[in-house]
Amino acid sequence: MSALFADLLEVFPEGVALFRARLTPADQRAILDDVAFVIGEAPLFRPQMPTGPYMINSLTNCGSLGWISDKRGYRYEPAHPTTAKPWPSIPESVLTVAQSLTYEAGLGAFEPDACLVNVYAADGRLSLHRDYDEADFKWPIVSFSFGNDADFVLGGLKRSGKTQSFALHSGDVMILGGESRLRYHGVKRIRPGTSPITHPVLPEGGRINLTLRRAR
Ligand code: SIN
Ligand code: FE2
Repeated sequence: MSALFADLLEVFPEGVALFRARLTPADQRAILDDVAFVIGEAPLFRPQMPTGPYMINSLTNCGSLGWISDKRGYRYEPAHPTTAKPWPSIPESVLTVAQSLTYEAGLGAFEPDACLVNVYAADGRLSLHRDYDEADFKWPIVSFSFGNDADFVLGGLKRSGKTQSFALHSGDVMILGGESRLRYHGVKRIRPGTSPITHPVLPEGGRINLTLRRAR
C-alpha cells in the first residue's frame, strides 16, 4: 500500500483503535464540566519524576486510584499527594463512552479504576514512554482528547522501535489494548489555535487528555 493510502486510511497496528470525532462539541464541553469538578476536588499538581526533574504537564486523577510520581517512583495511590483526600470518582460521562468503545473495538468489557487527567499548556509535551505501572496488562488504556491538536507519536514494543505520528483532535477517543497495550507513545507538541471548542478548564493554547486505566 502506498504511504499516501496508508495515511488516508489511518492504518494502525493490531490492538490500536482510534475513534475520530466520537465526541461532539457538546459532549466534549459536558465532559470538561465534569473535569472542572474533578480539578476542584483534586487540585492539579506537577509531580517530580524519580530522576529529579518535575513533569512539564500538570495532572490530577479521578477513580479509586490515581497515578502519581515522586522521588520514590511512579505508582498508583488512593489519595491526592497534597490534600490527602481520596480522588473523586470517574465521571459517568467518560466511563460510559470508554466502556462502549472498548466493546466496539472488540476488546471486551472494561472496568477502569483510575483516570489520569493530563493538562498540557501550549508548550506541553510528553516524552516517549509506555504505561507500565498497572497490575494486569490485559486491560486496555482508553484516551480522550480535548482542546488543541496533539502531535501524537505511536511507537513499537521497544523504545527503539519504528514510530508513526498523527494528530489527536478534540473529541477523538483512542484505545491501546491487546498486542498494543505496551506500545511506546508520547506527545511531541501541541498545535495552538486548532481547538474546535473553548471551555474555562482548557488552558490557553493547550490541551487536556484523560486516560482511563485499570490499575489493580
Ligand atoms: C499519556 O500517555 O498518558 C497521555 C497521552 C496523550 O496526552 O494523548
Ligand atoms: Fe501513556
